[in-house]
Amino acid sequence: MYLTKEEEKILNGEYGWGLAKAMQVIVSVGDSLNSEKLIGITHAHISGVSYGNIGEPGKKLIKQFSDEGIKFSVKTTVNPIGYDTLDYDAIPFTKIDRNYIKGQEEVLRSLQKMGADLTLSCTPYYLPMVNEIKIGSSVAWGESNAVVYGNSVLGIKTNREGGPISLMAAIVGKIYYYGLHIEENRIPEIKYKVNKPENYEINEVRASIIGEIISKIHNNDKPPYLYEKLRNETTVKEFSASIGAAGNLAMVVIKGITPIKFNEKEINETITIDFNDIKKREDELKPNDKPDLIYFGCPHTSKYEIEKIAKYLKKVDNLKTQIVITSSRNEMSKIDKDVLNILKSKNVKLIGDTCLIVSPFGYHGLNVVTNSYKAYFYLSKKGINVSLISLDDLEEVLRL
Ligand code: F3S
Repeated sequence: MYLTKEEEKILNGEYGWGLAKAMQVIVSVGDSLNSEKLIGITHAHISGVSYGNIGEPGKKLIKQFSDEGIKFSVKTTVNPIGYDTLDYDAIPFTKIDRNYIKGQEEVLRSLQKMGADLTLSCTPYYLPMVNEIKIGSSVAWGESNAVVYGNSVLGIKTNREGGPISLMAAIVGKIYYYGLHIEENRIPEIKYKVNKPENYEINEVRASIIGEIISKIHNNDKPPYLYEKLRNETTVKEFSASIGAAGNLAMVVIKGITPIKFNEKEINETITIDFNDIKKREDELKPNDKPDLIYFGCPHTSKYEIEKIAKYLKKVDNLKTQIVITSSRNEMSKIDKDVLNILKSKNVKLIGDTCLIVSPFGYHGLNVVTNSYKAYFYLSKKGINVSLISLDDLEEVLRL
């Protein structure tokens, strides 16, 4: 890989152990991918900051950097951790070990000392800082839903970086020129259409099923082109998360949404998804029993979604099911008092910094209803019975 003189100096340790170590990781991965050079990034989003995932080795490595006085070279945000920092016991059916909190707090202290903004959210795209990232600029994001959303909706460029790579890239402010950082790799070659009746609306559950189908069948190096209208922001977000969870894709060109220029006429392969296949999967995933818990917030809810939930709940007199919403502190800070009062009166748990997947939530056989395919995907692996409904069908589930 070609390195500038300055990059070579960093690599050779002229600026200290920490920078050299981070540069070595970036360069060796770049070399193994046959990348020709490094490029600058404007932002990093670090996933894998949960002590439950990285354990003592991860904690020690981050602390070593922080003790060395290493600072992040670019604005850096971080993913959720396993608990709400303001109320450790906020998540129902969950026990948080106090030793775990100690380990996590040390990780967070180190990251903060290095200059990270402790956003503890998987929706960096809802943070005000996102307006500072220009379309077409390269970033190093390490949370799959954010990666897909960033590439497909914001038009910024990132590969699916693992936690360690996003950490090292944040330190050196660079990443290898590879994959989706290269413009031509972002131009789709296969179009996906849904064969459906008129007035068939693609809500977030249906969009996520489409995401699951595309993830399984797309067999091309370039991103798929979804030639369908996704009806709102919730749909786009949940679609991005399902694409990220169900397979390895990092981008989908979405009709009318992705800011990218390409010649549609050059796409000569179209794959049609039949709406009956979507319906079949939708029926399989539908709730039949009364849930023990209803969950919204994977990826973290927006203020708009929280308001929508409160609007539905206002009409419900005798709410018997526990509802949990996870969100970012930033979105939560924007919610009106009236909305908060409705949620409080319905005993809804509005929880920050975490989610039911990253936390040690639940037990085998628990019944959870959610609008998130990604939550379904991961919670099911823990033996939790998860079914899917659209946020707009919340009233239907409350009648179960
Ligand atoms: Fe976010 Fe947790 Fe889902 S980190 S995308 S809410 S799994």
